[in-house]
Amino acid sequence: MGKQLRLDKYLSDMNVGTRSEIKAWIRKGRVAVNSKACLKPEHKVIVGEDRISFDEQEIIYEKFLYYMLNKPDGVVSATEDKINKTVIDLLDTVRRKDLFPVGRLDKDTEGLLLITNDGDLAHRLLSPKKQVDKVYYARINGRVTDEDAALFLSGISIGEAKPCLPAKLDILVSDDISEIHLTIQEGKYHQVKRMFEALGKEVIYLKRISMGGLLLDSSLKPGDYRRLTEDELELLNK
Ligand code: URA
Repeated sequence: MGKQLRLDKYLSDMNVGTRSEIKAWIRKGRVAVNSKACLKPEHKVIVGEDRISFDEQEIIYEKFLYYMLNKPDGVVSATEDKINKTVIDLLDTVRRKDLFPVGRLDKDTEGLLLITNDGDLAHRLLSPKKQVDKVYYARINGRVTDEDAALFLSGISIGEAKPCLPAKLDILVSDDISEIHLTIQEGKYHQVKRMFEALGKEVIYLKRISMGGLLLDSSLKPGDYRRLTEDELELLNK
């Protein structure tokens, strides 16, 4: 059996509020244990077994949380935004103030985005020195050719001091609208779009499908998310 904790201690350990705020919220019926309001701050809960929620938002008793989100079009990769919906707003059943997205996808880019409160992991995944693979699926206006693939491999210049690192281009469909997979190890601003632009081609749809060996779960619809499994987390920590 997991350890037992008072309900108010459980919530204060997870930084939901001060101990006195928490007691008041519990007495007002805003906290539920296993989907039933619990009005007693001293009620004992079993960590890992009882499901605790505050205003219907789940409070998981863990230091670090890791979520995989299939980011939809139209949402920004930020924790707060005055105008747009953010990726954090999409985690509407999760109440933790310390969650943030690991890196950014453009507003119109879809796909794999990791959301966590683990700053060390984020740093490792984003550091240019670590050269973590990111794989994108894209649809391109125009015919993508083997010559393009050779150019990607030799390092494309996108108007910065140095050319991009070699990138692997796999052509899935070469037609008026082409489909490709591109593997890059950097995360420059609008990088994939700018790489194709440098070849006179336009990205018309972009989706990240993998990062550091972690694959986007194909059962997640745009806007859906789930916690990472132990195995997935191990993969990222390698
Ligand atoms: N490259 C882009 O151009 N946009 C993204 O969102 C990610 C990579």
